[in-house]
Amino acid sequence: MKTSSFICLIFILSLSASLCTSNPKFSSQTDQIALFVFKGSITEDPLGALSSWNNSVHLCNWHGVTCGYRHRRVVELDLRSQRLAGHISPFIGNLSFLRSIYLQDNQFRGSIPQEISHLSRLRKLNISSNTLQGEIPSNLSLCLDLRIIHLSHNDLAGKIPAAFGFLSKLTFLSLSSNNLHGTIPPSLGNLSLLETIYLGTNNIEGTIPESIGHLRNLKLFGISVNNISSTVPPSLYNISTLTNLYMTNNKFIGSLPWDIGLTLSNLREFSVSDNQFTGRFPPSFSNASGMGALELSNNGLSGPVPVDLGRKMNDLVWLNLGFNNLGTGVAGEVSFVDSLSNCTKLRALGLQLNGFGGVLPNSITNLSTQLRSLVLGDNQFVGNIPTGISNYVNLLALGLEMNHLSGSIPFDIGMLQNLQGISLAENRLSGLIPESIGNLTQISNSICKTTI
Ligand SMILES: *[C@@H]1O[C@H](CO)[C@@H](O)[C@H](O)[C@H]1NC(C)=O
Ligand SMILES: *[C@@H]1O[C@H](CO)[C@@H](O)[C@H](O)[C@H]1NC(C)=O
Ligand SMILES: *[C@@H]1O[C@H](CO)[C@@H](O)[C@H](O)[C@H]1NC(C)=O
Ligand SMILES: *[C@@H]1O[C@H](CO)[C@@H](O)[C@H](O)[C@H]1NC(C)=O
Ligand SMILES: *[C@@H]1O[C@H](CO)[C@@H](O)[C@H](O)[C@H]1NC(C)=O
Ligand SMILES: *[C@@H]1O[C@H](CO)[C@@H](O)[C@H](O)[C@H]1NC(C)=O
Ligand SMILES: *[C@@H]1O[C@H](CO)[C@@H](O)[C@H](O)[C@H]1NC(C)=O
Ligand SMILES: *[C@@H]1O[C@H](CO)[C@@H](O)[C@H](O)[C@H]1NC(C)=O
Ligand SMILES: *[C@@H]1O[C@H](CO)[C@@H](O)[C@H](O)[C@H]1NC(C)=O
Ligand SMILES: *[C@@H]1O[C@H](CO)[C@@H](O)[C@H](O)[C@H]1NC(C)=O
Ligand SMILES: *[C@@H]1O[C@H](CO)[C@@H](O)[C@H](O)[C@H]1NC(C)=O
Repeated sequence: MKTSSFICLIFILSLSASLCTSNPKFSSQTDQIALFVFKGSITEDPLGALSSWNNSVHLCNWHGVTCGYRHRRVVELDLRSQRLAGHISPFIGNLSFLRSIYLQDNQFRGSIPQEISHLSRLRKLNISSNTLQGEIPSNLSLCLDLRIIHLSHNDLAGKIPAAFGFLSKLTFLSLSSNNLHGTIPPSLGNLSLLETIYLGTNNIEGTIPESIGHLRNLKLFGISVNNISSTVPPSLYNISTLTNLYMTNNKFIGSLPWDIGLTLSNLREFSVSDNQFTGRFPPSFSNASGMGALELSNNGLSGPVPVDLGRKMNDLVWLNLGFNNLGTGVAGEVSFVDSLSNCTKLRALGLQLNGFGGVLPNSITNLSTQLRSLVLGDNQFVGNIPTGISNYVNLLALGLEMNHLSGSIPFDIGMLQNLQGISLAENRLSGLIPESIGNLTQISNSICKTTI
């Protein structure tokens, strides 16, 4: 290893020397120097990804290197998922024809070299899933042709560079799962072609700038697991192209607009759990017919839940309304469950801790047989556990605890062979525990989840 880097160094020095005297302009030779130095700053290459990077092979044939057809300059560097460790050499900034950098899913450490900003032709930059530290170079904003910036899953610190507002061709920006703090720069609202913004799992504070609502092409906005403590700007609910909105685990306050299902009629996933939203459940959600996941749990929302909620939602997979103030203990409050029988893909229904009352509707046994999780605990349900619940042969979790349920446990509960957790505690159940319960062999492995 040492010998080869030494030889490599000599090679570089001799090349540099000849370059300085004969050809001061960047050339294919500059590319070769840059790549050799890049290789020199790799400390581990267990898959031998760079073994073809040697003098007996033309650099345009090196593994992971693509050259332009006519000028033979490097236009793409693709070394994704090669288990490479080391630093990203600043010499990468000399590959002046580079359009795409794919270094994702390796073990690059150190900082992102500022010199990347010299790459005026750069369109795609993916360095996600490494262990890069330091700040995001704001000079990246000089790469005016950038369309894709993917830096998520690193240890990057500092703020989101406001200068990114100059990257007018950007369509995709992902900075999630880093250590970023500060606020979202309002200048991002200038990037009219942006379709995707992932900023989740950082320490971002403040508010969502009103200007984000100017992004007329935005499809996905993710700001989950941050420290935003404000209302959502009304303009965000005006972006009719939005399909995925992730805002869980912040401190959002205020109410959800009553007409959200009409203004955001293309929503497929709407997740705002673990915030401080209050106010009425928006009746218009029932018009968001493309909804696949509606996740509103752990807020302060109040009812009623519209009776036709699921009627048009043929793709609904996930509905979690738990930990809110949606019920008042009155009969009929969960009649919206009738409308869920059309949701043939439903896998999870969560209504726990809401104070819903009345008997469980018969339709609670008429949901999709795809159901994995049925969580109704900590409400004020009365009456029997419907026998039909044993139809859910794929069920993994059944929660009915802390209600006022009476009667006996359905005799064929043992049909739920896949059940990993069942919770019936704190009700008014009577009679014998059915023998078939011995069939629930998966449960013994997860005793902590199980209370009967
Ligand atoms: C150069 O790379 C080629 C292709 O991987 C390989 O066959 C050859 O052995 C390498 N030469 C040296 C000197 O490492
Ligand atoms: C390439 O980049 C390095 C570091 O950024 C720099 O020192 C060097 O002068 C550049 N030019 C050439 C021709 O290698
Ligand atoms: C990047 O910008 C800083 C100022 O923000 C400047 O000092 C530095 O020279 C720039 N680096 C490059 C490589 O352009
Ligand atoms: C970037 O790389 C990640 C893998 O870490 C991959 O999941 C993602 O699709 C890539 N992003 C783009 C825009 O190509
Ligand atoms: C970019 O956004 C900022 C803040 O929203 C604004 O002040 C500025 O005028 C915008 N610049 C351009 C070129 O649109
Ligand atoms: C969240 O933001 C508040 C200010 O709004 C600040 O006091 C607090 O320290 C932040 N929390 C974290 C975990 O960064
Ligand atoms: C939402 O869009 C409508 C129609 O384009 C517009 O009249 C209204 O002012 C917008 N509201 C916000 C808060 O941006
Ligand atoms: C759903 O959409 C229809 C048609 O646009 C409209 O008449 C109805 O009022 C909407 N329902 C809700 C609850 O917003
Ligand atoms: C199921 O969908 C059909 C067609 O859209 C509709 O007529 C029916 O009322 C729905 N059923 C329920 C229970 O909402
Ligand atoms: C069960 O669902 C079907 C449609 O999937 C519907 O026709 C039927 O009326 C429902 N039965 C009950 C008891 O809700
Ligand atoms: C479950 O247990 C009962 C009683 O122990 C038994 O008769 C039955 O065969 C078992 N299997 C199923 C699928 O319920």
